[in-house]
Amino acid sequence: MQPGGKDLFYGDANCSLCHMVAGKGGRLGPELTAVGGSRTREAIIDSVRNPSRRLAWGLTEASKEFPQEYESVTVVTADGKQIKGITLNEDSFSVQIMDTSEQIHLLEKDNLKSFQKSRQSAMPTYGTDLLSDKDLKDIVAYLSSVGAK
Ligand code: HEC
Repeated sequence: MQPGGKDLFYGDANCSLCHMVAGKGGRLGPELTAVGGSRTREAIIDSVRNPSRRLAWGLTEASKEFPQEYESVTVVTADGKQIKGITLNEDSFSVQIMDTSEQIHLLEKDNLKSFQKSRQSAMPTYGTDLLSDKDLKDIVAYLSSVGAK
């Protein structure tokens, strides 16, 4: 039998490494339980085929004036450790980063050897060689079915 969208999401397509749906999956990328209800199919497909074209917005917290985009970041700490991940929160003095193994770091900018942000998504670009149009359609159908509930 052909794997369905849900099997692909949690299996071969590896989406669940970084995304949570209905309480299961990774945390580096946005939670996708509601995405099928809040964004069109075309927009979701574009996020998978061209992740860097439009970066997702994080949650708006009451304490924050603006929601934070899922920007990619690479820093080098004072002791020479490199940390790569996404920015969770940032102000003039400090930055909160989730690294690719989901560890959260709160860092004082003044103490960093280097601090580089990038609008290149932390999500890999899924070309048709990695994910066929049919498989992507099945994944989007799965996300829509979860989001519709
Ligand atoms: C290596 C981690 C990683 C993997 C694997 C990954 N993503 Fe992402 N994804 C991200 C990150 C980080 C973002 C936020 C930045 C952006 O918008 O590109 C994101 C954003 C998205 C968005 C936009 C969400 C929004 O609220 O606008 C969608 C949709 C999405 N991913 C779907 C998928 C699907 C479907 C797969 C599997 C085919 C997948 N992702 C695999 C990390 C990942």
